[in-house]
Amino acid sequence: MPTTANAQRKILVTSALPYANGSIHLGHLLEYIQTDIWVRFQKSRGHECYYVCADDAHGTAIMLRAEQEGITSEQLIARVSKEHQADFARFGVAFDNYHSTHSEENRLHSERIYTALRDAGHIATRDIEQMYDPVKGLFLADRFIKGTCPKCRTPDQYGDNCEACGTTYTPAELIDPVSAISGATPEVRSSTHYFFKLPDFEEFLKGWVHPGHVQPQIANKLQEWFESGLNEWDISRDAPYFGFEIPDAPGKYFYVWLDAPIGYLASFQNLCDREGIDFDSYWQRDSEAEVYHFIGKDIVYFHALFWPAMLEGAGLRTPTAVNCHGFVTVNGAKMSKSRGTFIKAETYAEYLNPEYLRYYFAAKLTSRVDDLDLNLEDFAYRVNSDLVGKVVNIASRCAGFVKKLGDGRLSAQCAEPDLVERFIAAGDTIAADYEAREFGRAMRKIMELADEANAYIADKEPWVLAKQSGGEQEVLDICSVGINLFRQLMVYLAPVVPKMAKDTRAFLNLESLDWQSRESVLRDHAINKFKPLMTRIERDKIDAMIEASKEDLAEEKKLKETPKGPLTDNPIAPEIGFEDFAKVDLRIVRIAKAEYVEGADKLLKLTLDLGGETRTVFSGIRSAYAPEALEGHLTVMVANLAPRKMRFGISEGMVLAAGDGDGIYLLEPHAGAEPGNRVT
Ligand code: 2FM
Ligand code: ZN
Repeated sequence: MPTTANAQRKILVTSALPYANGSIHLGHLLEYIQTDIWVRFQKSRGHECYYVCADDAHGTAIMLRAEQEGITSEQLIARVSKEHQADFARFGVAFDNYHSTHSEENRLHSERIYTALRDAGHIATRDIEQMYDPVKGLFLADRFIKGTCPKCRTPDQYGDNCEACGTTYTPAELIDPVSAISGATPEVRSSTHYFFKLPDFEEFLKGWVHPGHVQPQIANKLQEWFESGLNEWDISRDAPYFGFEIPDAPGKYFYVWLDAPIGYLASFQNLCDREGIDFDSYWQRDSEAEVYHFIGKDIVYFHALFWPAMLEGAGLRTPTAVNCHGFVTVNGAKMSKSRGTFIKAETYAEYLNPEYLRYYFAAKLTSRVDDLDLNLEDFAYRVNSDLVGKVVNIASRCAGFVKKLGDGRLSAQCAEPDLVERFIAAGDTIAADYEAREFGRAMRKIMELADEANAYIADKEPWVLAKQSGGEQEVLDICSVGINLFRQLMVYLAPVVPKMAKDTRAFLNLESLDWQSRESVLRDHAINKFKPLMTRIERDKIDAMIEASKEDLAEEKKLKETPKGPLTDNPIAPEIGFEDFAKVDLRIVRIAKAEYVEGADKLLKLTLDLGGETRTVFSGIRSAYAPEALEGHLTVMVANLAPRKMRFGISEGMVLAAGDGDGIYLLEPHAGAEPGNRVT
């Protein structure tokens, strides 16, 4: 791996592609933040570095989720892509391109790679027997089959292993298996599948895993896999499947995991086409560019075996390295929905500054595969003490004096050239830590420097000197040194806290905080008014975030129980008398306004006009209606329903809709009805 600081490198970086049917949570964010920091560091060093990602949009799970919501797969993935990108933007994860595996570029590259593998003899076909859901007309993956464990007889276990006794088995061994999708008894059916002949690449892979392409822990794991033998990989799925049809194999689709990593190429292709970058110079076999994949430890098999083998077989270059990280735990335990520690990116960002998390992850990240614990006490302590107490403190102690005594200009001479020089020189070892993904080590060095800067100021006591007449220049000199030291620290922290770095640039009046820029000491340089660059974490915000995460769970549960629209809450209602019916105040209303609700997948916020009175109602009809299509329409509401407090506000009633399981249809009166009319 080239590490010379000056030679410009060409670097392509990816993070794993998130599935297009779920929200980004803190577990995901560890990876995107780790990758983004590394990319920002490379860019700060002046390298040509591109960071691409995409939504992983194919597969049965996405197809079924869309069906459950009553929308098309395309509609689902378009919506989720927007949500994902909004989450990434909140956390400062700055992709150069964000694409989708359901794209023409991906179809093209998938077909190309597959065809090259087939023509070189690396694809085999054979018939396999699989469980089939005769009601849904669908072959069932193991996780879509449930039944009684053949060993311990615990009911309701998934098709591949028993959660109660840990036995692994095939779905055919389950007692009384049923399809988890339709409840039907599955049949065994045979169909032809396509296989990638991974064993053809055994020797190549054994050579590939060694020279620094994977971390030592991963190389050990791969060794175990080699010892237990490589198997051919089933890369096809039968229709119906949301994905790409295999060329020359009608009705057969590429398995989602075949075209997912090819999505890295597709996203990069899309970027190259837009910006005129030479795609081949990155991906041809003799390329001098570097390619890095950042992934979690659960998907090593795909990235360190299948992927390099596919690339090799298709005549393309293989990755420079696959960088693997561990899982996030919260307070020492697996993230838990019931404890409120399964925290969505969006929920976090509602309560806390994303840069707190970026810093905390950086402070704990190493180049190893270990899990990372987000201990919430330690999180608050570390951020408050390091970023606020140490780093921002330097600027806030010095800025006022520079304003007052230098009229906002730093001293013309640097009073402590050796000290400032040492801070500049420290940039080389800190850079080496960033390069090696030893972010924790880099943060420790930066905080040691911050301690030194604070000790320097404390020792000089400019606030005491300022009270003595004739001490003004010395105070300005000390504080100018302080501001220079702060600037060095912010160069080093910029990849971790980009928003704070941006505000620092505005405060210090600097064009750039890139690595190289630190070498010019700021003398006779005008700075701007100091504004707090980072405030302390408040403990009650953390508690509120945990509570909100518990509410997220409650909402999800409710949606799962009522997957097909607003009317399934009480499908079989008991008979009631007229008096009971008369208690319900049904009114004609005009939908004055309809809006999306940030953070709610299912809801629209409706402003309803009752003919003089206005009500706000949150309604679970988002999957069926675009807000603009509703405005101006009349519908019927229950006007005397007790107001319900939701996370997003108070819902003052309910609109009526029909739903047969496949759609949601708002009721609308015949022409002539007026807002406010009572419905009887
Ligand atoms: O595990 C996952 O979340 C997958 N969607 C990751 C895909 S990474 C790449 F291969 F596309
Ligand atoms: Zn069991």
